[in-house]
Amino acid sequence: MAFINEHYLKLQAGYLFPEIGRRVSDFKSAHPERKVIDMGIGDVTQPLVPSVIKAFHEGVDEMARIETFKGYGPEQGYGFLRESIAQNAYLSRGVEIHAGEIFISDGSKCDTGNIQEIFGHENKIAICDPVYPVYSDTTVMAGKTGSRKKNGYYEGIIYMPCTEENRFIPELPEEVPGLIFLCFPNNPTGAVATKEELKKWVDYAIAHKSIILYDAAYEAFIQEESIPHSIFEIEGAKRVAIEFRSFSKTAGFTGTRCAFTVIPEELVAYDSKGKTHPVKKFWNRRQATKFNGVSYPVQKAAAAVYTEKGQKEVRELIAYYLENARLMDESLQTAGFKVFGGKNAPYIWMKTPNNIPSWDFFDKLLNEAQVVGTPGSGFGPSGEGYFRFSAFANRENVLEAMERIKHLS
Ligand code: MLT
Repeated sequence: MAFINEHYLKLQAGYLFPEIGRRVSDFKSAHPERKVIDMGIGDVTQPLVPSVIKAFHEGVDEMARIETFKGYGPEQGYGFLRESIAQNAYLSRGVEIHAGEIFISDGSKCDTGNIQEIFGHENKIAICDPVYPVYSDTTVMAGKTGSRKKNGYYEGIIYMPCTEENRFIPELPEEVPGLIFLCFPNNPTGAVATKEELKKWVDYAIAHKSIILYDAAYEAFIQEESIPHSIFEIEGAKRVAIEFRSFSKTAGFTGTRCAFTVIPEELVAYDSKGKTHPVKKFWNRRQATKFNGVSYPVQKAAAAVYTEKGQKEVRELIAYYLENARLMDESLQTAGFKVFGGKNAPYIWMKTPNNIPSWDFFDKLLNEAQVVGTPGSGFGPSGEGYFRFSAFANRENVLEAMERIKHLS
């Protein structure tokens, strides 16, 4: 008899975005004549920039010639991309991260989920509420929680509510976690953390020998000079943090797939006898066993992001989405909604009108305006009564969606 992993039974029926997709597809089948505007999942809409496409083509052409053909690449990623990331994303900003600490992957979603494998089951995990659902769902799948309680929380997870009162920046938890998931600029609230705020977390992690799992997938959207792009800008962070970064939102790679995870040499975790072990070694072992790397043309395309031309082009891409966010913020505020985020992040987080439950607002918006967003409660109980719009849409769709929302009854 084959037994199932029963931890999956604790999960809510479906992952958030497929559930939204299901409702939208039902609506479309019932009303094929209506044009639905999707501002739900944070998926990019603009094509890859010319420098990236050129490098991508070159990579493909190299695979077509015997002299340049490549089979398996290094599991950690090609040296040229790791070097380029170290130089351009870190060293040029005064952050001492080196190529050997960078692991190329096919996405931060996979990495933030997979990383849990190398840490012991006895770790308590702290998670913001609301939060990108992958952190909690993968914690459940890994069997590190009890059942789902009536309030939507899983037993065994330390939840850190992020509310209007704390400006969506979590308080340090009283119960000490082994692992702490943080995400800034934040998905879903669009909040950013200052150096002082991150310093508190780093000091806390040092004091308690915890590890911060820092998701910086949206760092390219930061506009304010004083906001850190990396947790490693904070003194001491290399002793207590892992950082996840992605080309998905930075350079439109959601369909192309390329990301990276940074594990500093000095980061250690403990065994049951209190002996320290370098975390990097364990992740390397995991990746070398279970992963064969990202395809060569994709890594070549990702490296082009860091050329002078590539940088200029991706900055224009980010500016396009941020202008969407600005227009959305302006229109929604004019229409009387209370709106957050959208300044250093591609997400607008807003209060539902008259506090109506998030999924009810989702249905209302879909049925009455044919606009799709993401219900705040899908990101956790503290997201109830909120709604998220993604700014990764075409400009004309953004304008049309805002016009339709203005006329919502
Ligand atoms: C989101 O909409 O929250 C993101 O697109 C999900 C993701 O990046 O996997």
